[in-house]
Amino acid sequence: MLKIADATKTYATGNGIITALDGVNAEIQKGEFVTVRGPSGCGKTTLLLMLGGMLRPTTGAISVENQSLYQLSPRERARFRAEHIGFVFQMFHLVTYLNVLDNVLLAGGTRARRADDRGRAQELLGQFGMRDRMTHKPSELSAGERQRTAIARALMNRPSLLLADEPTGNLDPENAAETVRHLKKFQQEQGGTVVMVTHGDGAEDAADRIIRMQSGRLVDHSGSN
Ligand SMILES: Nc1ncnc2c1ncn2[C@@H]1O[C@H](COP(=O)(O)OP(=O)(O)O)[C@@H](O)[C@H]1O
Ligand SMILES: [Mg+2]
Repeated sequence: MLKIADATKTYATGNGIITALDGVNAEIQKGEFVTVRGPSGCGKTTLLLMLGGMLRPTTGAISVENQSLYQLSPRERARFRAEHIGFVFQMFHLVTYLNVLDNVLLAGGTRARRADDRGRAQELLGQFGMRDRMTHKPSELSAGERQRTAIARALMNRPSLLLADEPTGNLDPENAAETVRHLKKFQQEQGGTVVMVTHGDGAEDAADRIIRMQSGRLVDHSGSN
């Protein structure tokens, strides 16, 4: 379902060229839960943004469900992303001036809004224990509630792939475990694919496979070979 072929990413900066990804090859199967682990600065976010169609590799190719992402026009890619991919971030990235329900509805994005969206958003928030928080603003929520709202938003468009960038990084252990449980549930109940990035531990039990990264490369890639 996910294929990364010889992906590199270099950034030109005032201090020369930074190689954030240095020839990465990987395949992730549909319905797999993969954790990408490595120290800060090793290229995890770069890789995840690339998988999400938000960052073009300098060289190499990325495909999701046999669609080569960067051969699409920006508009087609945005559409593909909205239909197939959900994102969860460490900093939640909720819109501060919208309430919980409207944040989840925002996931509709450019797609024509359907009449049943509101019902789906409410149902999702109910599943995440947020039924009586729907009219609250993010600033009125705990960190765990913010992340649950963000996961509901990520699931709103029924993606097949969830990309999570250190989603537990700002949470206490209990909320961190709950976040991982929700990602796992998406895999088990929807047959979804999960790629979760982390610089520390966590999610070992949930993961089918751990991919380790160091200095822009994959190490100890114990997939099928
Ligand atoms: N927009 C950018 N411009 C220049 N360097 C960047 C940019 N984004 C990331 N980098 C560099 O690329 C490397 C990998 O970054 P990143 O993917 O964010 O790592 P991680 O998520 O593992 O901490 C780091 O050295 C980082 O400083
Ligand atoms: Mg990062």
